[in-house]
Amino acid sequence: MTLREPGPGARTIAMGGSHSDAAALYGGTTKELLLLTYDEWNAGTHLTDVGAVRLAAYADMGPVLGFLCERLAAGQDLDVSVEHGVGPARAAVDEELSRHPTVRVTGVTRVGERVVLHLGTGVAAESAQRRILLDLLDRTPGPRPSLARQAQPDSAAASGPTAAATGPDRSVSALPVRLLRGVSGITGATTRRGRLLTLLGIAALLGSVLLLLLYLIGVSELGSVGVVVALLVLALTVQAAVGIVVVLQAQAVSAQRQDLDRVRNILERRTDRLLTQGRKAAQGQRDLRAVRRRMDDLHRAGLRERAQSASHFDALDRTQTRQHLDTQRQVQAMLNLEHLVNVSGRVPPMGGWAASADLMVLILDEVLALRPSTVVECGSGTSTLLLALAVQQHGLNTRVVALEHLERFGEQTEAALVRHGVADRAEVRIAPLTVGSVQGHATPWYAESALDDLQDIGVLVVDGPPTATGDLARFPAVPLLRDRLAPASVVIMDDLIRDSDRRVADLWRELLPDFSYEVVDTLQKRAGVFRRNSETVARSRSIPGE
Ligand SMILES: C[S@@+](CC[C@H](N)C(=O)[O-])C[C@H]1O[C@@H](n2cnc3c(N)ncnc32)[C@H](O)[C@@H]1O
Repeated sequence: MTLREPGPGARTIAMGGSHSDAAALYGGTTKELLLLTYDEWNAGTHLTDVGAVRLAAYADMGPVLGFLCERLAAGQDLDVSVEHGVGPARAAVDEELSRHPTVRVTGVTRVGERVVLHLGTGVAAESAQRRILLDLLDRTPGPRPSLARQAQPDSAAASGPTAAATGPDRSVSALPVRLLRGVSGITGATTRRGRLLTLLGIAALLGSVLLLLLYLIGVSELGSVGVVVALLVLALTVQAAVGIVVVLQAQAVSAQRQDLDRVRNILERRTDRLLTQGRKAAQGQRDLRAVRRRMDDLHRAGLRERAQSASHFDALDRTQTRQHLDTQRQVQAMLNLEHLVNVSGRVPPMGGWAASADLMVLILDEVLALRPSTVVECGSGTSTLLLALAVQQHGLNTRVVALEHLERFGEQTEAALVRHGVADRAEVRIAPLTVGSVQGHATPWYAESALDDLQDIGVLVVDGPPTATGDLARFPAVPLLRDRLAPASVVIMDDLIRDSDRRVADLWRELLPDFSYEVVDTLQKRAGVFRRNSETVARSRSIPGE
């Protein structure tokens, strides 16, 4: 591809990642402006009569920009401008400019929020450099003319200070113009008018000096009036020059002051923006820290919940295992119970408020082993019926007496005894609860009158009164009945899973020093068993093989 010297009718090419991006920055296609994408350029579009190239920011713009920089560095008169983008696009521009040190930024133009750098090999005038800096600093949004439609920089110089200063500083070959710039560099005249006035002053000065010199060396005859006029012109010119220089310098100082004000305003705006951003960032950090703390709290709470759930699940697991084992034990106890008593007909419930199957096996085992003359039961119910059946079926000469404080339940038990035809084998004795003669024990117990005829008790089952009737409700059983126990006897206390009944059993240990004591943990509700002369009692187990 070739770029030819721009001539009359030389075209401008605007390039972007897409045509629309290039058009947004540099204007749409016209006769003079050709829109290209970087891919189309790279694909080898043949370019002829190209005088200017405008580049919109694009991550892969490096090769095209590099090519153009080389052409600029080689001295080609080419008008190149490139968008001062962000990220990779800006990095590409920086890299190409650093690779081509003779190519410099000679002007800056803004199009809305976007900034375009003009590239060239000339050195921008000091004022232009200052404006470049200011324009790079000042990103205040504002409508700007499209660069492609903008007038050439030199003509733009006349249209206003911003356009003049920020347009590209193109090299101009005409001597007067160069002279103008040289003089304005000395005097500080930055406008075209200032430069022309300066030039006129210098011309008048040189003219009058020349006239005087010609007169002095005798080449010219001025006459006294002419000399006076020449001297006057000289003096006025010098004065005017001095005045102009003073005015121009004052203008330059004022322009610099305006620039400084502008810089100060820009910096103040930027400082305000930075402070606001800083405040927002600090607030953001505080919010973030609060969110983080909240998340940590939630995380810790989650861990705690998980640990609690795990321990709940463990507990549930243990309970399920225990219940499963208990069910198995109760089923097995029911099978064993079948060997001990033959039950035909409906039986009141077992377990819960009534004796469990495994406790009944233990009680019947003791009864069948001891064959006592009297069995006393505190609290009537299913156990009373099973005891009566066992006594009948095993031909025992045993009297079963069940103490019951509530008539309603007593009648239920009696009805069961009648139903099973064993009403003559067990007596349900109604004994209301009264505060008895056990010293220091305020909880009522079965009326003492109900105990009068009870002697030689071989098996005492303590399963009442209900614990809810008072503190250590079952305690009086041993103080009141221990003297009525047979030499070989057993006291069975149900419900040792309850604290109050465990405390009762513990108190009894002191009252029954000649009894052994055993807690049967394997029973559903646990039981305490006090046994006297157990080793001398021949225990004939009723369940074969056990
Ligand atoms: C633990 S129960 C005695 C249970 C008895 N030893 C048995 O195995 O069936 C203690 C007291 O509960 C009461 N009782 C009896 N039948 C009951 C029933 N169906 N519901 C609630 N309580 C009852 C009686 O007053 C009984 O003296």
